[in-house]
Amino acid sequence: MAKEFSWIYISENDPDTVFDALQKQEGGRLIGQCGEWLQGEALLTRLQPDIALLDLGTGEEGLDYLARWSALFPRIRFFCTAGQARPELIVRAMRCGAGEFLLPDADDEEISRALKSVRPGVDSGRDRPARARTVCCFGVKGGMGTTTLAVNLAVAAAKNNGRRVLLIDSKLQLGNAALFLDIKPRISLLELLENLATLEVSRLDAILPGHGSGLHFIAGPENMEEAEKITAAGLGRLLELLRPEYDLIIIDCDDHFDEVTIRVLDEADLILTIAQLDLSTVYNLKRTLALFRRMGYAEEKIAVVLNRYPQRISDELQSIEGSIGRSICCRLPLQENGALLESINVGEPIILSRPRHPFSLQMAELLNHIQAEGRAKNTAAPRNSRGLLRRLTGRKE
Ligand SMILES: Nc1ncnc2c1ncn2[C@@H]1O[C@H](COP(=O)(O)OP(=O)(O)O)[C@@H](O)[C@H]1O
Ligand SMILES: [Mg+2]
Repeated sequence: MAKEFSWIYISENDPDTVFDALQKQEGGRLIGQCGEWLQGEALLTRLQPDIALLDLGTGEEGLDYLARWSALFPRIRFFCTAGQARPELIVRAMRCGAGEFLLPDADDEEISRALKSVRPGVDSGRDRPARARTVCCFGVKGGMGTTTLAVNLAVAAAKNNGRRVLLIDSKLQLGNAALFLDIKPRISLLELLENLATLEVSRLDAILPGHGSGLHFIAGPENMEEAEKITAAGLGRLLELLRPEYDLIIIDCDDHFDEVTIRVLDEADLILTIAQLDLSTVYNLKRTLALFRRMGYAEEKIAVVLNRYPQRISDELQSIEGSIGRSICCRLPLQENGALLESINVGEPIILSRPRHPFSLQMAELLNHIQAEGRAKNTAAPRNSRGLLRRLTGRKE
């Protein structure tokens, strides 16, 4: 039999139906209760329960406490409820670290499902799973090798490090990451967004197309004209739901600044900004980096990757860095022998088919760098959710 779990209740309102239902659950022990947000932290510190049920009431104050406490107490699972559970409140609660959001009419079955989902972590005394580090691959124009990079990083992370990795193709009209992986997705971003309300994250293994490497993959819509049905807000909500389920999310991003792309860039913890050393691309790179600065992105959110880097000018790195005003994170060598093209033709990323190839070795090094950085930070960078134009003009929403 599963071991007992302890829980506390923090609510400025009278106990609600979710409280009653949780109290009825077998194996649960209510060890504390308080009616003011201000007292909550002392209670959590003193009792260190397995689960804390928070009634968020109308929102703001509770959300602030939830965000603070979920960072302070990584071992406690936070369940939330609210009399008026608006979709926006639910999404924000999940974003602030709620493990589950229980609606006021949640029945016993729903409560036991929620308990079951946190049970393995509670029983083993492990910290809550961290939210996936989200890495966005952004080429400063088409043909930079963005998809090549995104796909290879994702499969390598899934296969070699046994991590839960998700690759999303957010190039909505002409995305082709599926081709690089030789996958024919039955379900795309569009179907996921259309069914977001009923999406069961515990069934992602069955829902999402997998790959031999262990990677999960979400393709763009099958028909190009359906791309416009995908909204930035929808994609943001999906990411919020998926982030707790993975260790790493890699996004193959479009190269022009529309609302969806901007949302993806906003959500990213790290943007791999991919360019190469011809004049027009370097010009685009400089302008992109300047825009990222104006968008308020922190310097450490951006890493510049130079692809097709010719061996002969390896010595000139410093002058290139001086010219773009940033250090180069990674240089991927130019491949003239067709190995990359062949890997696309056979649908097997080069990092799997030829792991000792110079291109693969560089990419493996980049992956190590990304993961080491992720461990050092261990939390997502704070997000700025204001729209591009407003951010650029500095107006408030
Ligand atoms: N370092 C490289 N050397 C040679 N060819 C490359 C290199 N990187 C990418 N390519 C090739 O360039 C083409 C475009 O790559 P792709 O990843 O589709 O770019 P993007 O997604 O930026 O449009 C592909 O045929 C790919 O094999
Ligand atoms: Mg591409």
